[in-house]
Amino acid sequence: MKVLVVYDSVFGNTEKVAQCVGEALEAQTLQVGDVKAEHLASLDALIVGSPTRAFSATPAIKSWLKSLSPGSLQGVKVAAFDTRMDVKEVNSRILTFFVKIFGYAAEPMATRLVKKGGAQAMPPAGFFVKGSEGPLKDGELERAAEWARQLLS
Ligand SMILES: Cc1cc2nc3c(=O)[nH]c(=O)nc-3n(C[C@H](O)[C@H](O)[C@H](O)COP(=O)(O)O)c2cc1C
Repeated sequence: MKVLVVYDSVFGNTEKVAQCVGEALEAQTLQVGDVKAEHLASLDALIVGSPTRAFSATPAIKSWLKSLSPGSLQGVKVAAFDTRMDVKEVNSRILTFFVKIFGYAAEPMATRLVKKGGAQAMPPAGFFVKGSEGPLKDGELERAAEWARQLLS
């Protein structure tokens, strides 16, 4: 099975999750800027990860997803994940309110992957960092590997 994990990362947390997901699936793992057309040829599954920044994926991930041709993911299993902060920790009512309305990066990424023809293999997932820049909370890499392995079942 040819699986590709594409990610973006600012502080390195999403990169760690992407590497972990890649290892669990024996997949190639690439930073979004390094993805070339040949990496997408004959893919069985594509997993995309981004930090949540202002309730959304990074500009690089969003423009890359947008650049995929319509129908190009036909027959490809797809899934998306993000990293995010724990709003409960921040203890801000206004932030909690905005998060309820605008959410996180993973869901819109997953929607975009399906719009390009992909078949959603597992629900979008979010992995928590400590504070706003990380590191990842304890157990999140294990949770990410478990999430990824659903692709194989
Ligand atoms: C400018 C900025 C905006 C952020 N916006 C959000 C947000 O809207 N929701 C959220 O849960 N986390 C937010 N975060 C926390 C990021 O999700 C966190 O930095 C990220 O998960 C770290 O991943 P990375 O190390 O791969 O960059 C923000 C962080 C920064 C610095």
